[in-house]
Amino acid sequence: MVILKRPEQIDKARASNRIVAEVLQTIKDKLKPGMTTRDLDKIADALVAKRGGKPAFKGYRGYPYALCTSVNQEVVHGMPSDRVLVEGDIIGIDFGVWLQGYYGDAAVTLPVGRISERAQRLIQVTEQSLYAAIENAREGKRLGDISAAVQKTVESAGFSVVRDFVGHGIGENLHEDPQIPNFGKAGRGIELQAGMIFAIEPMVNEGRYAVRILEDGWTVVTDDGSLSAHFEHSVAITDNGPDILSRWDG
Ligand code: MF3
Ligand code: CO
Repeated sequence: MVILKRPEQIDKARASNRIVAEVLQTIKDKLKPGMTTRDLDKIADALVAKRGGKPAFKGYRGYPYALCTSVNQEVVHGMPSDRVLVEGDIIGIDFGVWLQGYYGDAAVTLPVGRISERAQRLIQVTEQSLYAAIENAREGKRLGDISAAVQKTVESAGFSVVRDFVGHGIGENLHEDPQIPNFGKAGRGIELQAGMIFAIEPMVNEGRYAVRILEDGWTVVTDDGSLSAHFEHSVAITDNGPDILSRWDG
């Protein structure tokens, strides 16, 4: 069941997403070679506390950290550690916040120093696929239009869309219906209505789409060892079109 939100509820979700956006921006500004992924987690943890929110992922199904930090061939759910970031790495930063009853959730993939041209292109195409999806988050469209927009953008660039993880509705729960696959057919699926809030999150591999989970039970990696990128925004469908609640300048 997809839960519709009234405008004042969307504004509460906007407030939690504003903290998410501030944290992602802060990490982008501070990220440099020599830092550990744990350093980034501490930055997120401290800032969300300062803003009066709670890190949404910490404790979720036993996940122990505020951030997910997924480096290079890690797709999503990489765990902060003493791993030192080096020039040329790419890192997916995924962060969620709970504030006054509502969740916010967004992710970005960032370069560590100078990165290869193929890594740059992977990041660029993944971000483009998110915006192509958001363009379809409109009343009267269907869920499949969002999925198809991601898939088309990604595959026409020669990359592949991860099948095993999906985006989701979000609101008073971190994960609500519907599931939002990043592949599918336009014109299919539920009809989109004002008041829906979607966390749309394409995960894109440079090589094949197959992924596996490491022994730690969390870290998702590409099966073929190729690079992967991830972007996410929480987006409300409104009478005036898509409203990106987690928007930030970076
Ligand atoms: N953005 C991801 C999601 O909403 C992150 C979840 S990580 C977890 O699915 F640790 F909370 F599971
Ligand atoms: Co999410």
